Amino acid sequence: MSMPASGTLRVTLLSLHGLIRARDCELGRDADTGGQVKYVLELAEELSRREEVESVELVTRQIFDERVGPDYAQVEEIINPKAKIVRVPFGPKRYLRKEGLWPYLETFIDQMLGHYRRVGLPDLIHGHYADAGYAGAQLARLLHVPYVFTGHSLGRVKRQRLIAASQESKAPKPPRELDKKFKFTVREEAEEFALETASMVITSTGQEVEEQYAVYDHYQPDRMEVIPPGVDLDQFYPVDESEPLPRIHDLLTPFLKDSEKPMVVAMARPDERKNIEMLVRVFGENPKFREMANLVLVLGSRDDLREMPSGQRRVLTNVLHLIDVYDLYGHVAYPKAHRPSDVPELYRLTARRKGIFVNPALTEPFGLTLLEAAASGVPIVATNDGGPRDIIANCQNGLLIDPLSAEDIDHALMRCLTEPEQWQTWSENGIEGSRTHYSWANHVDRYLRDVTEIIEQSATPALAQSMGRTTRRLPEFDRIIMTDLDNTLTGDDEALADFVDLLNTAGRDVGFGIDTGRSLDEAMSLITKLNLPRPDVLSAAVGTELYYGEGLTPDLSWRKQIKHHWQPKLVHEVLDSIPGLFLQTEKDQTEFKISYRIDPEDSPSVAQIRKMLRSAGLRVKVVLSLGSFLDIIPLRGGSELSLRHLAYRWGFEPERLLVAGDCGNDEGMLKGGTLGVVVGNYSPELEKLRRLPRIYFAEGNHARGIMEGIEYYDFLNHIRIPNDKIEHEPGKHRTSEKAGEESNEHQDDEPAGDTNDDRNQRQSSEAAAAS
Ligand code: GLC
Repeated sequence: MSMPASGTLRVTLLSLHGLIRARDCELGRDADTGGQVKYVLELAEELSRREEVESVELVTRQIFDERVGPDYAQVEEIINPKAKIVRVPFGPKRYLRKEGLWPYLETFIDQMLGHYRRVGLPDLIHGHYADAGYAGAQLARLLHVPYVFTGHSLGRVKRQRLIAASQESKAPKPPRELDKKFKFTVREEAEEFALETASMVITSTGQEVEEQYAVYDHYQPDRMEVIPPGVDLDQFYPVDESEPLPRIHDLLTPFLKDSEKPMVVAMARPDERKNIEMLVRVFGENPKFREMANLVLVLGSRDDLREMPSGQRRVLTNVLHLIDVYDLYGHVAYPKAHRPSDVPELYRLTARRKGIFVNPALTEPFGLTLLEAAASGVPIVATNDGGPRDIIANCQNGLLIDPLSAEDIDHALMRCLTEPEQWQTWSENGIEGSRTHYSWANHVDRYLRDVTEIIEQSATPALAQSMGRTTRRLPEFDRIIMTDLDNTLTGDDEALADFVDLLNTAGRDVGFGIDTGRSLDEAMSLITKLNLPRPDVLSAAVGTELYYGEGLTPDLSWRKQIKHHWQPKLVHEVLDSIPGLFLQTEKDQTEFKISYRIDPEDSPSVAQIRKMLRSAGLRVKVVLSLGSFLDIIPLRGGSELSLRHLAYRWGFEPERLLVAGDCGNDEGMLKGGTLGVVVGNYSPELEKLRRLPRIYFAEGNHARGIMEGIEYYDFLNHIRIPNDKIEHEPGKHRTSEKAGEESNEHQDDEPAGDTNDDRNQRQSSEAAAAS
């Protein structure tokens, strides 16, 4: 496909967690509403300024929660005529911290498919962070739209750091506990998936590429682009000394004996890793500092220090103790609260007072605040790590320090305060360098150049043609029962006969579909042998082939897209000789499926097998079923995608598809917005689905279980979804303080204990009470 002519590029940015709004963005309100939120808003805005861009949609989660306010429930918020925020509901209505979103991402994907059916496909999807990274990758694969990923921070790196920190602490936590809290395993898999799918990965620094992305299996340096984000130059600009003193000045003066002295400013969340205590110590130890300067600590906003999350409270209390120990009263200001609009004013005030901005954090992968200070004309002193290193190399506007060396910090601060000419040069260099190297305009120049190339190389989206037309349907049906064959439909002859009767008496608007691991021939011979009705839809060979109707017409658009990256020879080369893996018979091998029997006693684990394939440069899916069948299929295959392709192509709402299965190769289609039924005789691979909405675990086995599910959803009449609502009404059984604490404290937010069983039980008793 060639690059859209001027003014036709449509971009979707996905950023799912935190609180995103265009007006009065609440940066720093909680740990999930920070740098990334700012980044995506500014990117959206700059993209929309470009002539070649037709529209930008910044898609995030729709939240109905009185604790965060009604703005986040608005379906659309216009940023400007070409850019808007689109809020899509998924999962519980209430605000969830990012670790709580994982079980609902498939629902999000289904919502987005509906959205794209309504508004048309974008030319580019760009996912931010692991959660949207995963969802965006899945959408991109399905819709065949080029994909860009930005990790922002990476799970594996954070996991390693936390494990190291925990081992050094007095009470080391077992790694498993950390995983439970931070969901590293799902997060890292999501990141791998996003990296595997992306045509380009955008990072902010070179160090991120070398030290962070490099620990991933899908690290592909040639697909990574270092494009640093920009500073918002409309907000961060040099001071005009003729202006009156800003509001922030009045917030600082009550603390200070002489507010005209140069200011040494640090601004960070009160987090141990920000190393603020060290700075106070350095300032306190050397009496010259208090003679020459004031220390200004902007450490977030607080209501009542005693009610803050324990980590933050600890840092703040230590800072207050140090101020007392060194008797810094009159020399240090630590305002209790500030508004976002105070921040640029603070930098300009610092420049006016010939001050310095200090960031002594233990690690600093990027450091947007440093750039904002630079753009405002404030010299910087910062940790010698990836972000600051790049910034100072580009701008020549300050000094790097070792955050663990008090002496180093002392020296650097002293130089800034005692060498006025140097100060002036650094100040000017920062103003200029930030504009040359870190403007959003530059960022977007490079962004559009790279994206243009990617789009030019991509084929036309497989489904682009069916977009925007009137809804087409598989003839006659308005809903489909889609079931796996072996062990789900089969296994109990009597139940199967009853199921067939049920189908025959169901209205003509109910379609019948089969999704199976078998090849087309094998599936049809079983269907004939069992005397089943001919399926209206057949998804064969583990979601790699799709057929419709009487004549089993193949879906050509599906066939076309599934080939992507498929290298069967290489798969054989890597796996055929692995111990514990035995190729299945010839008739089980299909064009897009290579199948083994696996003996887990002798074979490497499935995770290891995945790794081996990845290291050989293969991009495939590995599916385990019944603990003993191992299928290797193309990246764009699998029941989750084949079923969604079907739904998207023919315009079925996901709730019009009832899907039933028993084992691993059914997992994909069971997740998300479809109405899932897991039959009683399911295999352990599906146990994990219990956490998800819209999955009914039937008591009955085989076809009996399917019928139970049909009844559960009243699928043949007025479809209802008793297991859809899993959220607690906000405020009902949480006090507001508790809720606030929850979003800060990173508690486990999954509906733990609220298993399907509980839900099913509760709902059936509700239903009983209602009838
Ligand atoms: C069916 C297929 C087999 C596959 C298994 C799991 O049994 O015949 O090849 O491995 O399903 O998907």
